[in-house]
Amino acid sequence: MTPKKQLRSTAWFGSADKDGFIHRSWMRSFPDEVFDGRPVIGICNTWSELTPCNAHFREIAERVKRGVWEAGGFPVEFPVTSLGETNIRPTAMLLRNLVSMDVEESIRGNPIDGVVLLCGCDKTTPALIMGAASCDLPTIVVSGGPMLNGKFRGRDIGSGTDVWRYSEEVKAGTMGLAEFREAETCMSRSAGHCMTMGTASTMACMVEALGLGLPHNAAIPASDSRRLVMAHHAGRRIVQMVHEDLRISKILTREAFVNAIRVNGAVGGSTNAVIHSIAMAGRTEVELDLNDWDTLGRKVDTLVNLMPSGQFLMEDFYYAGGLPAVIRSLGENDLLHRHALTVNGKTIWENCCDAPNWNTDVIRTPDNPLTESGGIAVLRGNLAPDGAVLKPSAASPHLLVHRGPAVVFDSIEDYHARIDDPDLVVDENSVLVLRNCGPCGYPGMPEVGNMGLPPKVLRRGIKDMVRISDARMSGTAYGTVILHVAPEAAVGGPLALVNNGDIIDIDVPQRRLHLEVSDDVLAERRLQWTAPEHAMKGGYQELYRDRVTQADKGADFDFLKGCRGAGIPRESH
Ligand code: FES
Repeated sequence: MTPKKQLRSTAWFGSADKDGFIHRSWMRSFPDEVFDGRPVIGICNTWSELTPCNAHFREIAERVKRGVWEAGGFPVEFPVTSLGETNIRPTAMLLRNLVSMDVEESIRGNPIDGVVLLCGCDKTTPALIMGAASCDLPTIVVSGGPMLNGKFRGRDIGSGTDVWRYSEEVKAGTMGLAEFREAETCMSRSAGHCMTMGTASTMACMVEALGLGLPHNAAIPASDSRRLVMAHHAGRRIVQMVHEDLRISKILTREAFVNAIRVNGAVGGSTNAVIHSIAMAGRTEVELDLNDWDTLGRKVDTLVNLMPSGQFLMEDFYYAGGLPAVIRSLGENDLLHRHALTVNGKTIWENCCDAPNWNTDVIRTPDNPLTESGGIAVLRGNLAPDGAVLKPSAASPHLLVHRGPAVVFDSIEDYHARIDDPDLVVDENSVLVLRNCGPCGYPGMPEVGNMGLPPKVLRRGIKDMVRISDARMSGTAYGTVILHVAPEAAVGGPLALVNNGDIIDIDVPQRRLHLEVSDDVLAERRLQWTAPEHAMKGGYQELYRDRVTQADKGADFDFLKGCRGAGIPRESH
């Protein structure tokens, strides 16, 4: 057993004086031996009935505790603010950085030697990892797992993806409201997060690819007994990690992020992974930027045939072999840093080198990919000097090179007010532009970039148009959607200067996003531009607007970047 003085928690529980009395006495519902110098393991729980994706986390926490007790540790569960993607307004992203602060200060302020992060719904994963990374204690992530496949009228339906599809069908007049309502009852059939390759599944894949979770963390369904067994193993393992002093900074290396970017390309992951990974890397002081996403992902084919890019769902992915089969394929094709360390003490290659692929329809092989050169395309030009992103596997190939006139919406409210107007001047060649929805503008950068198409275009059977915004989009969404335009319109980025009818030129193979308006005219328009007013003054929203960085920097708060370590805060008694 590691000597008591080497454990951080000894500073609370190890002294014989008044302070030790206070720290122990208020926790005397636990037996005396828990204060004998054993590792104290914090279990950071995002359970909430308002976060339905994480509603089963109490049981997962209990299984983690069993493992911690068995391994000779002392488990202590603590709550942090939970972020339910479907309920929180204006957007859960507004609170990601706040939750990361909650996590960081909860860990640092308490007698914790190692931490297990229970993550599920979209923002809960990056928020918890960002907070823990700024503390740098031994850390394991246990994801909650995807829900079971949706089942509607004899076929599988996917979270989010089929909501967008059916909503368009209702607008186009090809689906009735009763049928739409029936589909609503058939989509979310169990505990767990969205079972498409949306942001939650993508982030669970990132966790496994980064080495922060045990093998199969990404895809075991939430309601599968093997999810509970994995939580149990994580509880055992975190105690050992404390003894080994295997801190999160030893896992979250640049090589781990490179692996995660390539895995994202192979699974057809969400554009949100770009922004979250840059924010997470910022906390560990690993150099990572938008160019890494473009250059590292370019050679990676999308292998995983899941919605929204493909056909299947996370349950199918697990039965086909899950993420280890994908990582093995990358490793065999020289697209993996094989020596990257993972939380179980083995390298990522040791974990995955023998992983089977049981279904090559679901997990394609490199000679039959779902999409060649998957990954994320980073576009630049006079409309996005600091970059914008697009997910080629979710886009329409015929729109990847396109010129068309802009139809501009100044806000999401403006879009809702005018998009159904039969007199709106728009056709399938138009480029829909939505602005003032970036980190500062909304604030919080909501997932509204995949604006629905105008009904009059939909009714003509058109399924996709080019859309551009400084917003994000749900990872479950699809289409030729250019997102995260930086700098955003609300801080005076060029998107603010686009007029209706301006020609926008998009060339994804050349990574170009160009507004065909002269510099002189843009300079004139800039003189006329005024920043939008914000409805809410003061409070957290004002702090957020003042200190949030742009999308290309991860939209973290500037003052949160970096690892501050856990340290041991001063005694207060
Ligand atoms: Fe929670 Fe999709 S709404 S993961």
